[in-house]
Amino acid sequence: MADTEDTKETQRYYLDTPQKTEGFFLKGCGALDWGMKNRLARIFNPVTGRTVMLAIDHGYFQGPTSGLERIDIQIVPLIPYADSLMLTRGILRSLIPEATPKSVVLRVSGGTSILKELSDEGLAVDIEDAVRLNVSAMAVQVFIGGEHERESILNMTRTVDLGTRFGIPTLAVTAVGKEMKRDARYFRLAARICAELGAHFIKTYYVEDGFETVTASCPVPIVMAGGKKIPEIDALTMAYRACQEGAAGVDMGRNIFQSEHPIAMLKAVRAVVHDNETPERAYLLYSELARKD
Ligand code: R5P
Repeated sequence: MADTEDTKETQRYYLDTPQKTEGFFLKGCGALDWGMKNRLARIFNPVTGRTVMLAIDHGYFQGPTSGLERIDIQIVPLIPYADSLMLTRGILRSLIPEATPKSVVLRVSGGTSILKELSDEGLAVDIEDAVRLNVSAMAVQVFIGGEHERESILNMTRTVDLGTRFGIPTLAVTAVGKEMKRDARYFRLAARICAELGAHFIKTYYVEDGFETVTASCPVPIVMAGGKKIPEIDALTMAYRACQEGAAGVDMGRNIFQSEHPIAMLKAVRAVVHDNETPERAYLLYSELARKD
């Protein structure tokens, strides 16, 4: 009797099955703490390793941008189709339903407007407020080559330091001044500087020539920024190419909320990002959904 009980008890320890040590699914993030990884896994889908972030933070320097005049009416209905929302604390507190299951990437740099020099930003949110808002990451604009390059880089490193104390990752947003050339050489430089100095993921624009060298030389995930509104098929093509060339998804704003059919567009972007659908097939999906809209 005692022997049988011993055997059963031994079985419960599964002595023949070594404990697995799983790797983390995001590039360059394996050595982060549990809280950081858990927050990143709310932004990036652990199955596809990619994200569709909806960027609606434009008002922090340019006021009520076209398509963002009434966030309650124009944006809240889109939330179910995004993986993550990138926005300011003002919009989060005033207009986003608290019960949303979606992760939040909080814009924490600011202090300038379109009326003045944009690179002259500071940190505009206290880390305590980011914790209070339960955000999954903090976003800081970094102006490499800009007038206030140094300050913007130090805004980013300060955010990384503060976020590390509380397990909150930092997204470095590479901002391109009007006078700067948007090419692979520039984005390699900007993305790598941000990663070297501790950013956990980076947002850059897509460039047709050499984007894969930007993603390859950046040791952490890159998400593609959308930029100005372009025809839907072109935006889908850009998102598709970015993902095929190493981006871990997109952080798009105007090409979604300025589309005539934002939900259809968001679904089509998801198809490209998460299902590797070709831009042509995704555009067909967009057109079908738009017809029923
Ligand atoms: C701009 O600085 C903001 O960070 C936006 O989040 C960013 O530009 C992405 O939005 P869009 O796809 O409209 O360029």
